[in-house]
Amino acid sequence: MLINLIAGDSSKELAKKISKKINANLVRSEVKVFPDGESKITLKGKLSKNKTIVVQSIFPPVDSNLIHTLSLISRAKECSKEVVLVTPYLGYARQDTEFLPGEIVTMKVLGQLFKGVGASKVIVVDIHSKIGLKYLKIKSKNISAIPDLVRYFKKIILKNPLVVSPDQGGKERAQEFADKFGSDFIALKKQRNRKTGRVQIKTEGLDEVRNRDVILVDDMISTGGSIIKATEFLKKHNCNRVFVACTHALLMNDAKKKIKRSGVTRIISTNTIPGKTSVVDISSTIAKAIK
Ligand code: R5P
Repeated sequence: MLINLIAGDSSKELAKKISKKINANLVRSEVKVFPDGESKITLKGKLSKNKTIVVQSIFPPVDSNLIHTLSLISRAKECSKEVVLVTPYLGYARQDTEFLPGEIVTMKVLGQLFKGVGASKVIVVDIHSKIGLKYLKIKSKNISAIPDLVRYFKKIILKNPLVVSPDQGGKERAQEFADKFGSDFIALKKQRNRKTGRVQIKTEGLDEVRNRDVILVDDMISTGGSIIKATEFLKKHNCNRVFVACTHALLMNDAKKKIKRSGVTRIISTNTIPGKTSVVDISSTIAKAIK
């Protein structure tokens, strides 16, 4: 049974790679944005009644990519008996809790929308927190990019490497990286001001980083604030080089420049979001999860 795979506009290259690996009927999509900001989305091929996979990461412009995703699912559901959404980077995943009174848990809204337009399953890569998954009222699978990132890092010659999570929330991720990489790990204590977004590192003393190459492991980089504060802290404690391994490199505005300026030697990310740092291909891992 030949399944269909729709390549969303934000994930064209990744979708093509996945489609080859699962031998799917690749259907491209085209987006035209009108001067008033509305989008016209066109499918450039026919869908069969068989299962359809929609591949689309929801990165900036997040709201536009979200409406594109919903439109693709809706169209796929008109033709196919089953629609699976593969959204390697799921925007809004950090909005999974009412952190301050009155904040809307947008992940809950996304859960309703995906189900409402006809998806029966969502596959996501390294969701910010597993809390988000509970709002997807359909089947869901969160896959880890850590094995792919580790494989890449094994090719780099490092001096007595230490894996570091910039915060306690990323501890499990860093532990998985360290176990597979064969090194030890630590997790810093980060505090973010929920009103201003400002980040501070609250860890006290840190002898174990002296003269060691550090791999900072995080799920995503947005403004770069977390990585910059962690790097400054580690450098102050006399570490050697700092490398960053992250799944989703959003790198908003001049984040990359600021991260480099803070002393990071290299940022390595996956192609859930296309970009210059996205050198780790995650398509095989996604293809395996689809099968
Ligand atoms: C936070 O808990 C996440 O794991 C990331 O560390 C954070 O979202 C990255 O954002 P930014 O680059 O803006 O600090």
